[in-house]
Amino acid sequence: MIRISKRLKTIGNFVLNKKSNKIIDVGCDHALLDIYLLQNDNNLKIVASDNKQKPLDNAKKNISKYSFLNKIEVCLKDGIENIDKEIDTVIISGMGTETIIEILEKDKKELEHINRLIISSNNKYPELRKSIVSLGYMITNEKIVFEDKKYYIIIEFIKGKKKYSNKDMYFGPILLNNKNQLFYDYFESIKAKKNKIKNSLIDNKKKKEIEKEVFTIEKELI
Ligand SMILES: C[S@@+](CC[C@H](N)C(=O)[O-])C[C@H]1O[C@@H](n2cnc3c(N)ncnc32)[C@H](O)[C@@H]1O
Repeated sequence: MIRISKRLKTIGNFVLNKKSNKIIDVGCDHALLDIYLLQNDNNLKIVASDNKQKPLDNAKKNISKYSFLNKIEVCLKDGIENIDKEIDTVIISGMGTETIIEILEKDKKELEHINRLIISSNNKYPELRKSIVSLGYMITNEKIVFEDKKYYIIIEFIKGKKKYSNKDMYFGPILLNNKNQLFYDYFESIKAKKNKIKNSLIDNKKKKEIEKEVFTIEKELI
C-alpha cells in the first residue's frame, strides 16, 4: 500500500465514503492520492489532471510504478474546463481558496453534472464555504488535520440548498456540531494569530474588528 500524508489519506477516505461515477483530481501533481484511491477501490474511474506538464510527467511516473497506467486517465487541463460529463466528483486539494474559487467560477457550467466537491484548501475557510455554498452546494463533511505543524480543513460539499449562519460559515457547521480537541487547538491557534496581528496594528478600527473576531472565537472555546 502506498504511503501518503495524513491530509491526503483523509481526502481519500472522504472520496471512498460515498459512491462516485467518475472522479477528477484537479491539480494532481504527484497523483499519490489517485494511486491510494485505486488501491482501495479498483473499480474507481479516475482522471488525474494538472495545468502543468512537469507535475503530469511526475504523476505518470508514479502511476506507472504502481501499474495503474491503464486505470487512471492523466490529462493536461486548466481546472475543470471541458471535463467529461460522466464525472460527478471533483477533488481540488493543496491550493489556496482564491485559486480554488477561480477554478470553480471560471467553468461554473461544468458544475451542472458535479454532485460532490472534496476540497482541501490551505487558507480562508470561511470565504471558501461561503463561495461554494453560493454555487449551490451544502456542507456534508468536514475534518481538521494537523500535520507538519500545520492545520488543514478538508470539506465535502454535495449539491443542494441549505441555510447557514455566519457562525456556521466561520467555524464550519459540521465542526461546530462535533467539537473535538483539534477544533479547540485549531481555533486557539487562530486566536493567537489574530491577537498577534492586532498588537501590530495602529489603525483603531481594524483593531476593533479583530477584537470582535477574537471574542467570537473565545465564546466557542469555553
Ligand atoms: C501544491 S500542489 C497540490 C498537489 C496535490 N493535489 C496535493 O494536495 O498534495 C498544487 C498543484 O495544482 C496545480 N494547479 C494549480 N492551478 C491549477 C489549475 N488551474 N488547474 C489545474 N491544476 C492546477 C499545480 O500545477 C500543482 O501541481
